[in-house]
This record gives sequence, C-alpha cells and structure tokens, in this order.
Amino acid sequence: MAIEIGQFSGEWDDLLELLDMAFSSPWTDAQYEAERGIWERERSVVAIDDGQLVGHTGTFSHRMSVPGGQLPVAGVTMVGVRPTHRRRGILRDLMRAQLTAVHEAGEPLAALTASEPVIYPRFGYGLAADHQEIVVPKVSRALRPVAGIDDIRIRYVDLRENLARCAELRNRLALERPGMFQHDERWQVYAISDNVTSSTANASKLRCVVAERDGELTGFAYYRTKRAEKGYVDVQRVHAVDLASHAALWRYLLEPDLLSQTHCEMLASDDPLLDLLLDPRAPSPITRDGLWIRPVDVGRALAGRTYARDVDVVIEVADDFLPWNAGRWHLVGGPDGATCESVSRDADLTLDVRDLGAVYLGRPSLERLGRAGLVAEHTAGALAATAQAFSTSRLPFLDTGF
Ligand SMILES: CC(C)(COP(=O)(O)OP(=O)(O)OC[C@H]1O[C@@H](n2cnc3c(N)ncnc32)[C@H](O)[C@@H]1OP(=O)(O)O)[C@@H](O)C(=O)NCCC(=O)NCCS
Repeated sequence: MAIEIGQFSGEWDDLLELLDMAFSSPWTDAQYEAERGIWERERSVVAIDDGQLVGHTGTFSHRMSVPGGQLPVAGVTMVGVRPTHRRRGILRDLMRAQLTAVHEAGEPLAALTASEPVIYPRFGYGLAADHQEIVVPKVSRALRPVAGIDDIRIRYVDLRENLARCAELRNRLALERPGMFQHDERWQVYAISDNVTSSTANASKLRCVVAERDGELTGFAYYRTKRAEKGYVDVQRVHAVDLASHAALWRYLLEPDLLSQTHCEMLASDDPLLDLLLDPRAPSPITRDGLWIRPVDVGRALAGRTYARDVDVVIEVADDFLPWNAGRWHLVGGPDGATCESVSRDADLTLDVRDLGAVYLGRPSLERLGRAGLVAEHTAGALAATAQAFSTSRLPFLDTGF
C-alpha cells in the first residue's frame, strides 16, 4: 500500500509518539506544552502508512523582517520521519507537499533551522544567517568605554509581569534586523519557555533585567544562572534601543557574583559586544548556522525587499525542486523598492536557488559565492554591482529558534 501524504487532521497528542521516535530523545512535558502553544494544526503535513503516522512537517506563519520591510514567511518545523521508514523518500515527498502549499498560500519564502545542515540544501534552502556562541571568563570581562553607560539603571524585574513591554521593545527592534520575526502573544510565551535555551538542567529559572534611562525602558535581558562545576551565566537574549543600554546590560551579565563565566548561545555575528571587549580573544566565538532560507516564489521574494543601491539585472535561477522558479528573472530595484518579472532575454548572472536563499537577507555576499564558483557572471561587472545592491548594513540574525 502506498504511503499517503496529506494534511493532518489529528490532535497534538497524536504527533507525540512520532516526534519522540524521530528525535531519538524524549521531550520533557515543558517542551511539549511549549510546542503545543505555537503549533498550527491546519499547516501540518503528514505521511501515513496503513493508518500509522510515519512522517511530519509543520509550518509557522511568521512575519519576518527582510531588507526594507517585512514578508509573510513559512517557518518549517518539527520535521521527522519514523526510523522504520527512513531513506525511502518520505521527507522529499513531505517537503514537496509543504512547499507547494506554502506557494499556494502566497508566502514567497520558507525558513528553517536545521538539526543537521546537510539535509536541506537539496530542497533549495541556503544558509542565510549565522550567529556566534560565546563564553567570556569573568576575568576577561573588561569593556572599552561607552558614553552614557552610567546613566543606565539595570533593574531586576518579574519576567512575566514585564513580558508584554519587553516583547513590544523587541518587536520594534526586530523591524530593523533581517531574519527576525514578530512575536505575537503565543511566541512571547514560547520565548520564555524552558524549550528555548539549550540546557536548563541545574539552572535557575529564567530571569529578566531591564535597562532604563530616566525611568524609560531602553532594553532588557533574559538569562539563567548555573552553579554546576564552573558556575556561569547563561544569556538567552539581550535587546536594547541604544549602545549605552546594550553595554550596561552586558556589563551586568559579565560580572556575576560567585560564577566564573558568561555564556551566550546565540549572539548576532555583528553584535557590538564583540568589538567592545578589551580582549578580543576573550569570548572565543564559535560560528553556528542559524536561519536557512528557501525562495518559494522567486519573483515575489526579489520584489519584496529593497536594495542598497540601484540594480537592473537578469538573474537565471536553477531550481529542480520547485520548477515554477526556474528561469530568468529581471530585477529592477533600489532603496525604495523593486519589481521582478520573468523574462526570456539573456541572463547577466546564473545561480542555484539555494544560493539565492543564502544571499537574500544580506549574508554572505554574492561576490563571495562567485569566488567559490557558485555564481556565473555573463556580463562583466554584473556580479560586483548586484552584490553591492544585495548587501545590508546589519547582518541578518535569528534570535528565536523554531
Ligand atoms: C532527516 C529525516 C527527516 C530524513 O527523512 P527521510 O524520509 O529518511 O529522507 P528521504 O528518504 O526523503 O531523503 C531525501 C534525501 O535527503 C537525504 N538525507 C535524508 N536525511 C539525511 C541526513 N540526516 N543526512 C544526510 N542526508 C540525508 C537522503 O539521502 C536523500 O537524498 P537523495 O535524494 O540525494 O537520495 C529523518 O531521518 C529524521 O526524522 N531524522 C531525525 C529527525 C531530524 O533530524 N529531523 C530534522 C529536523 S531539522
């Protein structure tokens, strides 16, 4: 009997056994509850074999910042195939059904974070945002001077009572940072759940400090403390509207009583902290892959962002998984907006759809991909000019894994 791919009609609890098996380690009750809160049942696609659930992929309806604006983006999540049914093409069928549904829903991009990075490029996803994992020993916490830092008051507050105003500040900042998506109330709760930071064993509850200037909220940080072995502060997020507040929050987080170091798993790769630390070796940054982007409708995706400088280019896109994207696209854009139409004239550049996904939010540069032989230039100068147009002043960053 053939395996059927279709929309899920069951309940959240019906998925649990499959997800437990697929991810090999049982989820905690807190994790299940956190995921249940954000799950969108009508967007779950499943594979069924003789009545048994054997595969699943879910979708979140994100509103994500792209250069110059925001777009509806399908957040791909909870991807798993039952171990007894692996390597028979079920994931491939699930991905195709999901991306077709995303296209029909009018979302020009899909996005995900990958447990294993080699899985998704074959389905057209490119690595579009990375971040740094850092560990700063307390002895190396010295920062360069920051004007106004002493005008900022750091105050410990109740996490839940301050959830809405901190989330409002974060959502405002998210508009300026490609790759961040808006947190509605469900995501605000999810972001403080035990599911979000890696290791909560032997750790304190999530704590919140706010930064204020003259009583006005200018930033906040969420963190845990941990006394095991070398005790440390585990920073989950820091958001601030200005540099003085950002530095004041970090100054507080880098100087914990009784603990010897500060850890942050997801720091933006261009976070000012990396330049402010007097000892640039101190944080020992490790680059981690963050957001993977898949153009689902190339024309709408390219027309949906702005460009750092005027650009007029024909890009030939290879896409053997979603054939409607394959072909030549005429992009005319600039700082105020863009149009993008399918054309038949000769192309200036050729690249694979996964590489278009990789550069879409501004990282890495098209020229870098060109040097790696991943972009073919047919018109002299087109690569450098298009690369400048795609670049962004701030690197894309995903602050909330999904
Ligand atoms: C990853 C997973 C979903 C793959 O499902 P699957 O049904 O076995 O995948 P398919 O048979 O459709 O494979 C499609 C392609 O991806 C490749 N692939 C699948 N899983 C892979 C992996 N873990 N590493 C490398 N390649 C992988 C296959 O070789 C195949 O390649 P091909 O088309 O060139 O032959 C499944 O192994 C799983 O559930 N793993 C544990 C949970 C997990 O990691 N989920 C991903 C969360 S981000």
